[in-house]
Amino acid sequence: MTIKKISSVETYPVRHEVLRNGKPIETCQFKGDDDENTTHFGLFLEDKLVGIISVFKENNNLFSELNQFQIRGMAVLEEFQGKGFGAELVKEAENHCINLNTDLIWFNARENAVPFYEKLDYKIIGDSFLISDVGIHFAMYKKIH
Ligand SMILES: CC(C)(COP(=O)(O)OP(=O)(O)OC[C@H]1O[C@@H](n2cnc3c(N)ncnc32)[C@H](O)[C@@H]1OP(=O)(O)O)[C@@H](O)C(=O)NCCC(=O)NCCS
Repeated sequence: MTIKKISSVETYPVRHEVLRNGKPIETCQFKGDDDENTTHFGLFLEDKLVGIISVFKENNNLFSELNQFQIRGMAVLEEFQGKGFGAELVKEAENHCINLNTDLIWFNARENAVPFYEKLDYKIIGDSFLISDVGIHFAMYKKIH
């Protein structure tokens, strides 16, 4: 297993299959994907991309910390789920943010993924909310300092 940086476009096949299944490929493009402070990581088994995670330099008003990062586009191909790859990707993203002196990492988690993030010490803040076409989400975070 190796994790390395990939381009935004390289995330699309996994984003499409796991996060935007049946939707137009354009829905796999996220605002800020190609900003200079955005980084995408891919987890490879030999040459096959099986998991992805993206990190955006984005502050959320829910938090007062100055240096916040947002995780987006966390996905592992279905047949490779439950093998620890998702956790490895989150840890890679965390290390990346820690190297950039982040104070806090946050994201909007799909309801079904909340227990996964809780195992990695992320906490829910506030009530659930609906993201149209995607479903019920919770804001989650971890303070780094
Ligand atoms: C959520 C997701 C990224 C997790 O990745 P994964 O590789 O399957 O997770 P891991 O194998 O690293 O799991 C780490 C731990 O979390 C647990 N876990 C993972 N998904 C879980 C879930 N949905 N509910 C409860 N526990 C879960 C695992 O059992 C494991 O526990 P352990 O450490 O006690 O063995 C992946 O299942 C996925 O892509 N799901 C569909 C897309 C999605 O929901 N993405 C998140 C959008 S916010």
